[in-house]
Amino acid sequence: MTSPRILVFAGSIRTGSLNEMLAASAADAIREAGGDVTKISLADYPLPVYHGDLEKDEGVPENAARLAGLFVASQGIFIAAPEYNGGITPLLKNTIDWVSRPKATNHRPGPYKGRVFALGGASDGGFGGYRGLLQLRHSLENALGTLMVPEMVSVPAASQAFDDSGRLVAERPAAMLKTVAERLVAMAATFAA
Ligand SMILES: Cc1cc2nc3c(=O)[nH]c(=O)nc-3n(C[C@H](O)[C@H](O)[C@H](O)COP(=O)(O)O)c2cc1C
Repeated sequence: MTSPRILVFAGSIRTGSLNEMLAASAADAIREAGGDVTKISLADYPLPVYHGDLEKDEGVPENAARLAGLFVASQGIFIAAPEYNGGITPLLKNTIDWVSRPKATNHRPGPYKGRVFALGGASDGGFGGYRGLLQLRHSLENALGTLMVPEMVSVPAASQAFDDSGRLVAERPAAMLKTVAERLVAMAATFAA
């Protein structure tokens, strides 16, 4: 099996982000499962808040096109997504929306359709960001046509779930991350467009 290319990023650029730690742990787990990982930070791809007039007047920002290029070059994508008020955070929603614009890439069917996505979330709350993951999953699967890894990783009480080096050590979430990483690599190698 050739190693599928897997893009990994977090939906938070906050210093000390729990989801950035989850993304780093996911990158390790995906490499161990045989994936060829590219890990990025959305801090390196700043985007204005989407506005139709802005797109009409100035087109799709270069950073959205760069991200779309990374999506297109990957068979699988892992997103570590925080939850705000039970849903998708503004950074992630804005990024997903810009990348979805038809002019973000010349590639057809585009950056989402047929690619395999896997999701995880970390939060100090008891749900571990799971409600946000459900909303994100709905958008990716039902509106954007991605293939989804069935399992999702949620990390509740997340400020106690990582060690000093930022590695996920909480037993159940770490076991779930391993399962998700293995499934993402296998599905990306088999099914991705
Ligand atoms: C506006 C706002 C809303 C939030 N809503 C939720 C929530 O609904 N559920 C939850 O578990 N945590 C919620 N949180 C807490 C975040 O999960 C927490 O700040 C988390 O650390 C953010 O992810 P990060 O560490 O990767 O930046 C909220 C935080 C903010 C700022």
